[in-house]
Amino acid sequence: MVHPSKDITGKEGQELKGKRIVLGVTGSVSAYRAADIARDLMRHGADVHAVMTSGAQKIIHPNLLEWATGNPVVTELTGKIEHVAFTTGKEKADLILVAPVTANTIGKIASGIDDTTVTSYVSSALGAGIPIVIAPAMHDTMLTHPIIEENLKKLERAGITLVPPVIEEGKAKLSSPKVILEIAISRLAKKNDMSGMKVLITGGPTVEPIDPVRILTNRSSGKMAVALASACIRRGAEVVMVYGPGVAEPPSSARVVRVETARQMLAAVEKELSSKRFDLAIAAAAASDYGPARYHNEKLDSKREDVVLELRRSPKIIERVKELSPSTFLLIFKAEHSVTRVEMVSRAAKRGREVRADLVAANDVGREGVGFGSEDNEVVLVDPRGKSVSLPKARKSAIADRLLDSVVARIRT
Ligand SMILES: Cc1cc2nc3c(=O)[nH]c(=O)nc-3n(C[C@H](O)[C@H](O)[C@H](O)COP(=O)(O)O)c2cc1C
Repeated sequence: MVHPSKDITGKEGQELKGKRIVLGVTGSVSAYRAADIARDLMRHGADVHAVMTSGAQKIIHPNLLEWATGNPVVTELTGKIEHVAFTTGKEKADLILVAPVTANTIGKIASGIDDTTVTSYVSSALGAGIPIVIAPAMHDTMLTHPIIEENLKKLERAGITLVPPVIEEGKAKLSSPKVILEIAISRLAKKNDMSGMKVLITGGPTVEPIDPVRILTNRSSGKMAVALASACIRRGAEVVMVYGPGVAEPPSSARVVRVETARQMLAAVEKELSSKRFDLAIAAAAASDYGPARYHNEKLDSKREDVVLELRRSPKIIERVKELSPSTFLLIFKAEHSVTRVEMVSRAAKRGREVRADLVAANDVGREGVGFGSEDNEVVLVDPRGKSVSLPKARKSAIADRLLDSVVARIRT
């Protein structure tokens, strides 16, 4: 007999039709919103199976989620090994959504600890390649704790999608059920749309030595390139990253070629493009435009009043991509500083035509809170004919997905 609570299934959309979603609920006070989240997923076609930690059961009773989902709730692991059963066969889940996720559970997942129902489900899902989305909720002071921040980054690097909380009244509150629903839908839709694609990404700054101790470099952190690499992998692509010394840690399943100077970056890109076919190349590195014309073998004397450095133009890596591999789709980044949108679009289109780029992601690194080093970005996507679309300020991981949506749509047509 079908549980009467399931009568809402598919009433508002079919995007999740036929999808089994495990809803992990942990001991945040926002657990009271889990029923609404389950019901929204069901209204869009999903079959939802709730799993609760003991912490969650101190906040809400499992009966609420059994009523909401119309399915039995897992409150402990038994001889049925529920956390393994859901990774294979008929019971295989399409997505695991942990909403809300506590600081405690985030820390455990980041350290590979499996001592609750939800952490065991997440570990099995990670091993089985089942997509995972988490929606944190906690006091603001906890979210900005450096260890929790680091843990969240670790989870993103492992391919877990984060639904950023809403900061209100000193709390990092669980995002709304509607936003969680949208992210769950897009995570499932994008799961495999880059399957079989080979992607080459350059990222990070380059460093150009002046003498044995001094270098010329720039403020690039590599975060945008790493976000793009992670998104490509999540969407099923194979990624090679040619990476300067950025601070962001590349995803573990990318093949990473580490380089220091612009010349080394060029040599690595040329080697990759001539030995393998790439469907997509993304030039996100901030390779130095200029390097010292001459390297001083000995450290320059620090007592000198003036030192004159002669700089020479470094090789332009993006110019080589289409020369070596004309059929590779090329997305380039163009950083501008304090220019108008009109000017940014016209410069981006011009540069795109010069290097035969298929798309240019232009951003103004002079604006506060976006671009170099920050967690967010704001981009204008320009095609070589000057047609543009703005991607408003968002976390670099969200911008990466928006950029890839455009790239994939164009590659497919
Ligand atoms: C009423 C109440 C509300 C709580 N809310 C939160 C919360 O919003 N976020 C959080 O990280 N921890 C919260 N906690 C603390 C967690 O419940 C605690 O860390 C617990 O060990 C989490 O276990 P779990 O992650 O296995 O569910 C709350 C505790 C109580 C008693």
